[in-house]
Amino acid sequence: MPIDRRHFMRKLGGATSSLVLSAVFNPALATSLDHAFTRTQYHSAESVASDEAFWQQIRLAYTVSATRLDLNNGGVSPQPKVVQEAFNHYNRMSNEGPSYFMWRDLDKGRDLIRQELAALAGAPQEEIAITRNASEALENVILGMRLNPGDEVILSRQGYPNMIHAWKQRAMREGIVLKWLDFELPQTNNSYFLDLYKNAITPKTKVMHITHVINWNGQVLPVKLITQLARQHQIETVVDGAHSFAQLDFKIPELGCDYFGTSLHKWLCAPFGTGMLYVKKERIKNLYPLFAAEDPESDNIRKFENFGTRSSATEQAIIPAIQFHELIGTKRKQERLRYLKNYWVKKAQTIPGFRIHSPLDPNFDCGICLFSIDGLDSYKITTELTNKHRIHVVKIDWQNINGIRISPNVFTLTKDLDRFVNALKIIKNS
Ligand SMILES: Cc1ncc(COP(=O)(O)O)c(C=O)c1O
Repeated sequence: MPIDRRHFMRKLGGATSSLVLSAVFNPALATSLDHAFTRTQYHSAESVASDEAFWQQIRLAYTVSATRLDLNNGGVSPQPKVVQEAFNHYNRMSNEGPSYFMWRDLDKGRDLIRQELAALAGAPQEEIAITRNASEALENVILGMRLNPGDEVILSRQGYPNMIHAWKQRAMREGIVLKWLDFELPQTNNSYFLDLYKNAITPKTKVMHITHVINWNGQVLPVKLITQLARQHQIETVVDGAHSFAQLDFKIPELGCDYFGTSLHKWLCAPFGTGMLYVKKERIKNLYPLFAAEDPESDNIRKFENFGTRSSATEQAIIPAIQFHELIGTKRKQERLRYLKNYWVKKAQTIPGFRIHSPLDPNFDCGICLFSIDGLDSYKITTELTNKHRIHVVKIDWQNINGIRISPNVFTLTKDLDRFVNALKIIKNS
């Protein structure tokens, strides 16, 4: 779908417009970005995915290290300059008189951030809360749902540790029962996941916790089908969307879940320490907030934001992050990340013993990919990449998942990935 730049410019008419314009559209960058967007306006996301000249322009909008190659963008992503500048601007402003500028002025703008996030999520703004990360968003749900001793929760061993710890703590303190699924990954078959969830259901099942994208290897789960199954049994669904939001092209209500939590400092490239919670309107009242609010049984989504003083600058800079993201478009990001994954994997497949532990199927994959090389210790590969080749990656060792995780960002260039694969070949032959 072509990018509607007039729409974007209209959107910039909001509170942060002058800041965004001055930061992104400094004369040189403005002209080159403008050309890049105009040139590709009617190109499909799939064709733009391999257009290095386009992504080179996007790269210039970031402050990418000249020498250290970061292939762990799934851990946390960098912010475009426009976001960094907005943060600096609002931070300086806050420091001119914190209690006035943060509490009386900037905090009053939180509903505008909610509005922008809601538009991106495709959800009503009264179902969106701003949190500091995905863990906080999801722990509001995990620790706030009304459950009784003996109630069962279905979750997987391949979920994210913070979420697993939260469920275990609830089980320990309150006697709820955890029913564990153990995935053999990768999988490219909906019924594999559906059958596991289905077989774990009992009359006592109250909740299914579903990780949309498994962080360890980028496996995408068929969330819509799983929530459909859950609804047939009056089971509530919690979706951990830390890696799907702003990476995969979907709207939250399409997933059919009751609760969805995500980081914004991953694929949205918003400031560090930002997250979002979605709670379906009819579920808000019965969900207790993690930080007690004046009326914990209110149906106002803002009760989940009662965590005391926070950095207003961090929150305010979410808006330019959304604007910059929308300028590119989620679909283009999704296709670019998938293209880069396929690009480096194809080249690395010539290395003897190279194995990937992630799906290569557009229904189940994304830009994150896990690999190993037979006969070579993943620790040695990671250390040599870091120390000898200045390439940052992360070694994964969790449950039955082992290897090295690679997650480029949209501005990673194919020549960066050539450098990475060449480094692997040198390590393999050393
Ligand atoms: C699947 C998943 N869930 C939750 C989180 C926690 O995110 P945050 O650090 O924003 O709390 C992560 C972080 O990597 C993750 O990968």
